[in-house]
Amino acid sequence: MVKIDNIELGEFPLLLAPMEDVSDPPFRAVCKENGADLMYTEFISSEGLIRDAIKSRQKLDIFDYEKPIGIQIFGGDEDAMALSAKIVDSTAPDLLDINFGCPVKKVVCKGAGAGVLRDIDLMVRLTKACVRSTSLPVTVKTRLGWDDDTKNIEEVAERLQDVGIKALTIHGRTRAQLYRGEADWTLIAKVKNNPRIHIPIFGNGDIDSPQKAVEYKNRYGVDGIMIGRAAIGYPWIFREIKHYMATGEVLAPPTIEERLTAVRKHLHGALAWKGTRTGVCEMRPHYASYLKGLNHVREFRTRLVTTDSVDEIEHIFDDIRTFYAREAEMA
Ligand SMILES: Cc1cc2nc3c(=O)[nH]c(=O)nc-3n(C[C@H](O)[C@H](O)[C@H](O)COP(=O)(O)O)c2cc1C
Repeated sequence: MVKIDNIELGEFPLLLAPMEDVSDPPFRAVCKENGADLMYTEFISSEGLIRDAIKSRQKLDIFDYEKPIGIQIFGGDEDAMALSAKIVDSTAPDLLDINFGCPVKKVVCKGAGAGVLRDIDLMVRLTKACVRSTSLPVTVKTRLGWDDDTKNIEEVAERLQDVGIKALTIHGRTRAQLYRGEADWTLIAKVKNNPRIHIPIFGNGDIDSPQKAVEYKNRYGVDGIMIGRAAIGYPWIFREIKHYMATGEVLAPPTIEERLTAVRKHLHGALAWKGTRTGVCEMRPHYASYLKGLNHVREFRTRLVTTDSVDEIEHIFDDIRTFYAREAEMA
């Protein structure tokens, strides 16, 4: 049984990655339904939280059915991180996660996210400040290092464990790589196999099929896997991996009905959480992913992203159902 502090996560947990503008409550709801064992919020700016910025505050919204869930924060200032940890504490998630991996320039320039990978002492101080300021278990998500010459994750893992983190997720790329190239899990395995390390080590990067998940589980020996991009518009990745792990068989892909049920749930969650106008707009990038792989989707997709009317969107969903039912009959 994998445990983060007292949080029991099963034999081999599958984690939904924190993803800005993606891992919001409506998206998390469909991932939870399909087997995500632990989920995270989008990253939240510590500066924004202490300024009481509405956008940052809204990202703190979590719901009972999502548990266990972690709230992720980022920042480069110890006091701001400590205060943010207190704010997060008061919203009662299951854990607090610190982002030391975001490669985006505007974050890195402020000495936050992956920027901290260039200053391990600062990383340790920021982590310590959070651990001291919350009663929640603190976890960290980071990358292998800043660039090819400074892959310091082994040192980072030991030092962060020493100041009290309860789990570490490692994305197998450096900051310099951004999302290019293939994620390298060999260093993740080294961290996991270090006899000094006793906290769970989760691997992250490029898992996009049940076969790859099982191959990487066996080859690298991690305690669990975190999945990001492959879950966007395809929350079934979690149940597919679980089924494959349990039976060795590949589950049939979701039916049209299942796709429509998931996208409707996502849509209605977005409308309820963000309001109609924003909810409709924020759903637009998701339709292509939910319909990916189906024949003749272009027309439906175009209609879905150009209407502002929820009734019309429902109407298009009905058209999709009818169209593919007819296609199936003719096949
Ligand atoms: C759109 C997008 C937003 C992301 N936002 C965050 C974030 O807020 N916090 C974070 O730690 N990582 C973030 N990431 C990185 C992912 O959590 C993950 O580490 C990365 O996508 C690699 O995993 P994957 O190959 O399974 O997608 C983001 C990635 C994407 C694609």
